[in-house]
Amino acid sequence: MLRQVILAASRSKRMRSVVEHAPVSKQVVHRFVPGATVDDAVRASKALLAGNRLVTLDHLGEDTTDKTMAQATVDAYLALLSRLGDAGLTSDGKAEVSVKLSAVGQTIDEALALDNARTICEAATSHGTTVTLDMEDHTTTDGTLGTLRELRRDFPATGAVVQSYLRRTEADCKDLAYEGSRVRLCKGAYKEPASVAFQDKRDVDASYVRCLEVLMGGAGYPMVATHDPAMITAAKRLGRTRGTYEFQMLYGIRPTEQQKLADEGETMRVYVPYGDEYYGYFMRRLAERPANVTFFLRSLASRK
Ligand code: FDA
Repeated sequence: MLRQVILAASRSKRMRSVVEHAPVSKQVVHRFVPGATVDDAVRASKALLAGNRLVTLDHLGEDTTDKTMAQATVDAYLALLSRLGDAGLTSDGKAEVSVKLSAVGQTIDEALALDNARTICEAATSHGTTVTLDMEDHTTTDGTLGTLRELRRDFPATGAVVQSYLRRTEADCKDLAYEGSRVRLCKGAYKEPASVAFQDKRDVDASYVRCLEVLMGGAGYPMVATHDPAMITAAKRLGRTRGTYEFQMLYGIRPTEQQKLADEGETMRVYVPYGDEYYGYFMRRLAERPANVTFFLRSLASRK
């Protein structure tokens, strides 16, 4: 119930203004978003890489409504990749980027988003790294997987996210479990109707484990994106050779566990969002756990 309310609020302009102007917001947000600038993104990446955690960077922004905004997002990614490359952080995909197609024009025109994503993939490839397409609400799933297919013709290392709360995802995983495919499996963070998505956490988790089994048993490179100890244990139990898959978590969430997995010899990548447009991202994090609102406030005082 709380999750539905917060996710509904994530679309509200009025609520956005309230949250952005609340005195506590900036501090809370900064635990989960290291900052607004490329410098902030590079600094956070260096710190994580120094601890043997890999990085995927997301330039925050979604719901791009015109071509100029879409181009600004592309330019931001090009500047980011250039800075990461110059700092020697992109080799072997140590730091890669995550892209929301809505930020590069998907809601205006799929072809525009494809062209823009292609430009980012070209830059990533030239710096020796990769792009992973984030997944947004279910109305974009077919379009995003279609764009992935197109991008992979020229940039075969391009990856994408799938969401276990969608009823379709186990079948998508079967389609995507081929050699060279990079698939980031998460539970899903949007408000979705029962017609397309499991509503009960137990069903979402059971679907996650089924999808894990498909991906870990397949020929691709699974990216196990979760903070859930039960899912992490399930992934480890599948006994795949280390280095042929990776764990992923969000910046600021369970950092001690992130480091523990990296120290154990698991490949661990942290999703680092940066930029001004943090509202939608922040609200989805708030909605994730019933305890999250309190958790976020308590998190000001301590790091777990
Ligand atoms: P869930 O939220 O069910 O939590 C399960 C358990 O994990 C909790 O009971 C607790 O034990 C532990 N836990 C979770 N959060 C914690 C916290 N803050 N502190 C301590 N313990 C905590 N979504 C999407 O729709 N599209 C996308 O493209 C992406 N991309 C993405 C990339 C990466 C790298 C990650 C990690 C996640 C995403 N997501 C996403 C978000 C994802 O869909 C999901 O909303 C969150 O990861 C939360 O789900 P969990 O799997 O962590 O479990």
